[in-house]
Amino acid sequence: NWPNFVKVVEVGPRDGLQNEPKNVPTNVKVDLINRLVDAGVRDVETTSFVSAKWVPQMGDNKEVMRSLQKVPDVNYVALVPNVKGLESAEAVQTETIALFLAASESFSKKNTNCSIDESMERASAVLERARKAGIRVRGYVSCVCGCPYEGKIDPQKVAQISKFLYDEGCYEISLGDTIGVGTPGTIAAVLAEVTKLVPAEKIALHCHNTYGQALPNILIGLQMGVRVFDSSVGGLGGCPYAQGASGNVATEDLVYMLHGMGIQTGIDLNKIVNTAHFICSAIGKDPQSNVTRALPRV
Ligand code: HMG
Ligand code: MG
Repeated sequence: NWPNFVKVVEVGPRDGLQNEPKNVPTNVKVDLINRLVDAGVRDVETTSFVSAKWVPQMGDNKEVMRSLQKVPDVNYVALVPNVKGLESAEAVQTETIALFLAASESFSKKNTNCSIDESMERASAVLERARKAGIRVRGYVSCVCGCPYEGKIDPQKVAQISKFLYDEGCYEISLGDTIGVGTPGTIAAVLAEVTKLVPAEKIALHCHNTYGQALPNILIGLQMGVRVFDSSVGGLGGCPYAQGASGNVATEDLVYMLHGMGIQTGIDLNKIVNTAHFICSAIGKDPQSNVTRALPRV
């Protein structure tokens, strides 16, 4: 029994562009976000308030947020690692932020320069301040199926961090297969552990597609009650601190599969395909999407 509707969280403007060697002009980023919203996207990650020394590609975060023509009922989400990031997000009227923790000690150090325990302390401080400011918080757990430095990750560790974020007030916990090594087998094992501690309807899957496993993994998620999936237009994406990881599942591939199963998303497939062409030609890349390659350009 498939659901009637699934929420697609578009992460292209952030995950898709944070790893781009080419500098993407702010106006192209803003255009991208506006096109995605016009295509029917209702949850979109716009940027991140991280250190520009660590991720220079997101250094125009404030300008991006200021330049958006915000549409009512659209959830514009910005990544934030600490209170300093939240302060910057607040300064430009960000209404939703996403915290990102990892289930791997080494990845936590490489990506955010702190241990998992320290990242939880940082997260608590951010959540407390966000609560007072009326800012909604999404939570990420990275490396749920494997870590670029440590290899295998214990699903119980993933469940423990997910529960922490959920108990602390995150409205949704996105499980990141950061390097795309998961298979339906490992994803099922992770979801089995996490759903012991966090309700399935509060979980999202964030599948990078390095090994071509994202869609099968998403199908397993659907079977196990997950109703929110992250994706990136054109299949862009990657993390500068997870070498070898490729892009997220392409939004157009995800939407094609869901619509084919009779599941609505509110997203216009042709408009997403056009948006994939737009951003990929702006950065000089071919869309990493079977659907965009298959469909005629309209
Ligand atoms: P740090 O160097 O340990 O921070 O970095 P610090 O507190 O010691 O401060 C050092 C300097 O950074 C100071 O500046 C601070 O002001 C500044 P200085 O005095 O040297 O001029 N600083 C900041 N500047 C701007 N915004 C901030 C901020 N905080 C401190 N928020 C830090 C710690 C977390 C900041 C750093 O490690 C960082 O920015 N990491 C971000 C890495 C990142 O963005 N990774 C990609 C996103 S996560 C991802 O892609 C995974 C995901 O997609 C899910 C999945 O696929 O699994 C979400
Ligand atoms: Mg990611």
